[in-house]
Amino acid sequence: MSDNTTATLIHNGRVITATDDYVADVLLKDGIVHTIGQHLEVGEDVQVVDATGLYVLPGGVDTHVHMENVVGPTMTCDTFASGTKAAAFGGTTTVVDFALQTAEDSPLGAIARAQRSAESQVNIDYGLHVIVTRVDEQVLKDVRYAMHHEGVSSFKMFMAYPGVMMADDAAIFRMLRQVGADGGMLALHAENGTVIDLLIKEALAAGHTSPRYHEMTRPSIMEGEATHRGIRLAELAEAPIYFVHVSSNNALKHIVQARAEGIPVFAETCPHYLLFDKSVYSSDDFEVAKYVMTPPLRTKDDQKHLWRALRYDDLQVIATDHCPFCMKEGHLGYQKQKQMGKDDFSMIPNGAPGIETRLVSLFDIGVMKGKFSLNRFVELTATSPAKLFGLFPKKGTIAVGSDADVVLFNPAVTQTIRAQSLHSNVDYTLLEGRTMQGRVEKVFLRGHLIVDGQAWKGREGLGRFVPRGQVQAF
Ligand code: URP
Ligand code: ZN
Ligand code: ZN
Repeated sequence: MSDNTTATLIHNGRVITATDDYVADVLLKDGIVHTIGQHLEVGEDVQVVDATGLYVLPGGVDTHVHMENVVGPTMTCDTFASGTKAAAFGGTTTVVDFALQTAEDSPLGAIARAQRSAESQVNIDYGLHVIVTRVDEQVLKDVRYAMHHEGVSSFKMFMAYPGVMMADDAAIFRMLRQVGADGGMLALHAENGTVIDLLIKEALAAGHTSPRYHEMTRPSIMEGEATHRGIRLAELAEAPIYFVHVSSNNALKHIVQARAEGIPVFAETCPHYLLFDKSVYSSDDFEVAKYVMTPPLRTKDDQKHLWRALRYDDLQVIATDHCPFCMKEGHLGYQKQKQMGKDDFSMIPNGAPGIETRLVSLFDIGVMKGKFSLNRFVELTATSPAKLFGLFPKKGTIAVGSDADVVLFNPAVTQTIRAQSLHSNVDYTLLEGRTMQGRVEKVFLRGHLIVDGQAWKGREGLGRFVPRGQVQAF
């Protein structure tokens, strides 16, 4: 399907991809990047946007977001509409959300359900990973069908949350074998769920009920143990594996070693693990619930290892794990979601927001602080996730023929982050009051201008489901 938009010439911007950095004109036409060149001549029917002094980036690709996801007794407070609008304002033009297989239905039912809800609401393009909680012969057949006919080539399983989403090792191994054989990717939440559950019960029995105990009962050794186990399962299955939200060196060291051994192991971290450390858990105040995400924040030493791994490609992706729950204000009928754990930290819904601040925060603490280059910034936030999840080169780069998903980013200005000015339904940001370098100025989705400064030009339903192909990791 072509996009009937006015053609746009982005004039004299600095085009940054994972590998290139040059000043050029970029013509967006019929929904794709039509021409890239110097001093392009265009007719009067083409709108010209002066991008002098701006970076021209591929639209961000965020492959770990939770919108309208059921988590325990509640649901993330962003709809597909609010979450994708927030993503757009932050310079992300493609997300991959989760479709949850329930006890009753199959992965195909989960996909259909999520698509039904998303279709009329999405402001940007989207794909789906299926969370598989139960594996049998029929589920494996459906997984295969989803990869070949539904454009869903990645699946997620949990080694944590026993009795809710946790899968046993044999189920994970069966999925790895199936998904790997068909060129897909299994993503794993790696934490030893049963040991963590025991630690939680012991903490509560000792009267330790405040949010800070979330961190104390999820030690990084148990993230490391599960990561190692996942790697060995993938090795046996001869399948690639992707670890979501890697937070600690205890996990990272197994990933680094496996990659050095030639095992196809891939991993992401999230901005919050780079921006904050476990010192936030030093009080019994309920405000700490804002930082109750899983895994919890780790030490400054862990951060040092995450930065090193980002630099040397042992981590390939920075995704947000945007998983918003309100502290006070309610949305969708869910009031004070974090308050569910007021008297018992284990009842606090796990997750934190971040979908709108990913690019600016990583530009500020990554590029501006000399932690990684501009090219690497683009690679980590757009190109690598697009490759690992079968979206490239349609998404994740600026090249002739790619979707015209383009962000004009101003590196020369600062902004102070306030929840009030962000577009998610959630009522807080971990970055409240923080001043950061860089700002998203304009965002194009398949050639449509959807963000113009503070102005919203997009519309619900403009986004499309993007059928994804095989992993492109080698
Ligand atoms: O805290 C988080 N990450 N919540 C979302 C569920 C998960 O563990 O991925
Ligand atoms: Zn997780
Ligand atoms: Zn998550």
